[in-house]
Amino acid sequence: MEKMPFRDSDMLTDVHAVIAAANLATTVSNWRRTVPVLTGSMVTLRELRLSDAPSLLSMLSTEEVARFISPPPTTIEGFERFIAWTHRERAAGNYVCFAVVPHGMDTAIGIFQVRQLEPDFATAEWGFAIGSAFWGTGMFADGAKMVVDFAFDVIGTHRLEARAAVANGRGNGALRKIGAVQEGVLRKSFLRDGEYLDQTLWTILDEDWRRSKAVWVGQVH
Ligand SMILES: CC(C)(COP(=O)(O)OP(=O)(O)OC[C@H]1O[C@@H](n2cnc3c(N)ncnc32)[C@H](O)[C@@H]1OP(=O)(O)O)[C@@H](O)C(=O)NCCC(=O)NCCS
Repeated sequence: MEKMPFRDSDMLTDVHAVIAAANLATTVSNWRRTVPVLTGSMVTLRELRLSDAPSLLSMLSTEEVARFISPPPTTIEGFERFIAWTHRERAAGNYVCFAVVPHGMDTAIGIFQVRQLEPDFATAEWGFAIGSAFWGTGMFADGAKMVVDFAFDVIGTHRLEARAAVANGRGNGALRKIGAVQEGVLRKSFLRDGEYLDQTLWTILDEDWRRSKAVWVGQVH
C-alpha cells in the first residue's frame, strides 16, 4: 500500500507498554493474538520486534526505497513507535505486518503489510517494501506468496488490492509478476512530496489465486 496508515504523530511514546497490551488483548482469532511464523525457501516472515528498528531504518529510509511510499520514520525511535503501532493494530484485528527476515539473518530487511478495507478483511489491501540490497533476489516473491496465501487462507480475504504509483516501475513489475490484475488507474490519488501521483490499482481474487497458484509457484521457485 503506498499510503501506509501509520502516522508517527498519533503514537503513544511508551512503545513497550503498547506491545505488552497488544499481546495481552483478548482476541477472537489466533493471528490477532500471535502472528504466525511463515517459512519460505529464502525468507522467514514473523511479527516485527522492537529490535528490528535499526535495520528497518537503514533498509527502508533510503531515497530509492521510500520514493513512492508514504515517508517512513526517520529515526530508530520513530520505527519503534511504528512497530508498537503494528502490534496494537494487529491486536485490534485491523491489520497485520510481517517482518521479512532472510534465512541466516536475524533482523528484518523489509515488511509486508495487510489491512482491512472492509470488516473481516473481505476486501483487504497489501503493501510491501524491502531494502534495495535485496531487490531482484527472489525474496520478494518468496514472501509475497506466503502473504497472499495467508490473506486468502487464514484471514479470509476474498479480494486483495494493491496500489502502486504509476511511476513506480519495480512496484508495478513486482505485482504483475505475481499475478495481480491491473484494474485501472486512480488519478491523482497519492500525495507525495507536495505532488498528487496517479496510482495503478492491482487486485488478486481468491478464486484466481487458487486457480493459478500451481503454475505461479512453479515459476518463482
Ligand atoms: C516493490 C519491491 C518490494 C519488489 O521487490 P523486488 O525484489 O524489487 O522485486 P522483483 O525484482 O522480484 O520484481 C520486480 C519486477 O519488476 C521488474 N521491473 C523493474 N523495473 C521495472 C520498470 N521500470 N518497469 C517495469 N518493470 C520493472 C523487474 O524486472 C522484476 O521483474 P522480473 O523478475 O520478471 O525481471 C521492492 O522493489 C521495493 O521495496 N521497492 C520500494 C518500495 C515500494 O515501492 N513498494 C511498492 C509498494 S506497492
